[in-house]
Amino acid sequence: MLSVAVFLCLLVILVSGLKELIVNPGQDAPLQCQGPRDAEITLLEWNRADLKSDDYVFLYRNQRPYENYQHESFKGRVNLMDPSMKDGNVSVTLRNVKLTDTGTYKCQITTKETESVVHECSISLKVTTSGDC
Ligand SMILES: *[C@@H]1O[C@H](CO)[C@@H](O)[C@H](O)[C@H]1NC(C)=O
Repeated sequence: MLSVAVFLCLLVILVSGLKELIVNPGQDAPLQCQGPRDAEITLLEWNRADLKSDDYVFLYRNQRPYENYQHESFKGRVNLMDPSMKDGNVSVTLRNVKLTDTGTYKCQITTKETESVVHECSISLKVTTSGDC
């Protein structure tokens, strides 16, 4: 029975073609995204698909994070893994996840050279008590 459930979970992940991350409530979720390595990142936007586009999970602009633009539920819980974003590493950690954090997280990167979005990441986060898929 269990192996059928595992198989179905895998199938869902493969078919959706998304990076899927499954974590338990209270854990930290690493939202990984690799941007361009040799460009100056002027704007970094982490959003969740079901939130309004100006309700950010994390916003970084003019060389600093903007906490004022963060959605209430993410304030104080999101940090860059590498604050210097060395080599285009724009991964963030979402700390102490809750069941309501489940959703599709999208990252958009804008560089100085192009002044438009040059790279996107998409991660499906599932917060669940272990056992279910
Ligand atoms: C980004 O940096 C963090 C912290 O140094 C590291 O753990 C992570 O693996 C890096 N991610 C990528 C995609 O390089």
